Amino acid sequence: MTRARAVTVADLRSLAQRNLPKSVFEFIDGGANDERTLNANMRDLERIGFAPRVLTDVSNRRQSVQILGQEYSSPLIFGPTGLSGLLWPDGDTATARATATAGIGYCLSTNSNGSIEQVASHGRPDFWFQLYIQRDRAMVRTLVERAVSAGCPVLCVTVDLPIQGPRERDERNGFTVPPRLHLGDVFDYATRMGWLWRMATGPRITFANLERAGGDESNLKTLVEHISAQFDQTVTWKEIDWLKSIWPGRMAIKGILNPQDARLAVEHGVDAVIVSNHGGRQLDGAPSAISALPGVVEAVDGRAEVLMDGGIRRGSDVVKAMALGACGCLIGRAGLYGLAANGEGGVMRAIEILKKEIDTTLALLGQPDITKLDRSAISEKCF
Ligand SMILES: Cc1cc2nc3c(=O)[nH]c(=O)nc-3n(C[C@H](O)[C@H](O)[C@H](O)COP(=O)(O)O)c2cc1C
Repeated sequence: MTRARAVTVADLRSLAQRNLPKSVFEFIDGGANDERTLNANMRDLERIGFAPRVLTDVSNRRQSVQILGQEYSSPLIFGPTGLSGLLWPDGDTATARATATAGIGYCLSTNSNGSIEQVASHGRPDFWFQLYIQRDRAMVRTLVERAVSAGCPVLCVTVDLPIQGPRERDERNGFTVPPRLHLGDVFDYATRMGWLWRMATGPRITFANLERAGGDESNLKTLVEHISAQFDQTVTWKEIDWLKSIWPGRMAIKGILNPQDARLAVEHGVDAVIVSNHGGRQLDGAPSAISALPGVVEAVDGRAEVLMDGGIRRGSDVVKAMALGACGCLIGRAGLYGLAANGEGGVMRAIEILKKEIDTTLALLGQPDITKLDRSAISEKCF
């Protein structure tokens, strides 16, 4: 398959698999334990059917939206993903540029390889910043201040990672950061010359946001150890209150699945709740994101915006989530496959594919305006 013939996200996934060493591909593709939640994210979206209407004049279709005060050409936001630089040199700035060109949102991870400042100057100025609340609160404060100085409009606080989920594929593959070559992998790496060349000639992989924040920047291994030691299991809503007091912009909480937590989020004044199980990478057995969405929407009851991520591989998945009350969807792997397939151009392709599929779905569903969707667009047989 050539790049030009990547007509679906699944095609981009095949290209990514072809380009990346197995251990790196499985790092992005895999999930926790038996990957039940990872698979349920996609399976539950597939199970939902539409209730199409006809004769509704769909000649003038619209998928532009406003999310957290930002105008976007589509309800797609490229979600936060660490270590994008392992897929393509300068993966974070490449993604930031592609999403800006496409007019969609982009959220930079705490664990990105490009720094907040690099992405602001070489990518786009209006990205969201994703924060992990780490043990070292001075470091957290510094990250928040840097995001404020960069002009980030939204702080996205990820709350489903008190410890890292058990990624058994990574363990089996001996996946490490930085990647270590095992004897059994020599053939695998030798058939990925393009990737090897890009990694050898591209910028050194580091966690650029954390360089000035405690870890030893010159040694990625110690930086990784530093980050692992920073997961904080004591975090509660008190920290959300603290962050609200030092963050001047909008705040989203990512990793909510339970309606009770959604209610608490609203009570603590957050502007958006992101229904997410971290793409099935944390608690295996957690509900699929799409199945958790309606309960969260009901609990929030219009008092905050509700977004979701997990399992989006088709534009029709986004339409289903919007019909069930989401105001936008984050994409993780769909964009990463594009990045690994062909850098900035691959991310562009992933966005084009999803946007086109959203447009086609709206036309065939008889619903010209994505912002006017409601549950009547979904077949009752699904519930
Ligand atoms: C390789 C990879 C790295 C990720 N890194 C982060 C991260 O640093 N912060 C975060 O909040 N979520 C992270 N996520 C989760 C994504 O933001 C998102 O919730 C998830 O990928 C959505 O599921 P999907 O991949 O099926 O679209 C990561 C996901 C992947 C696949």
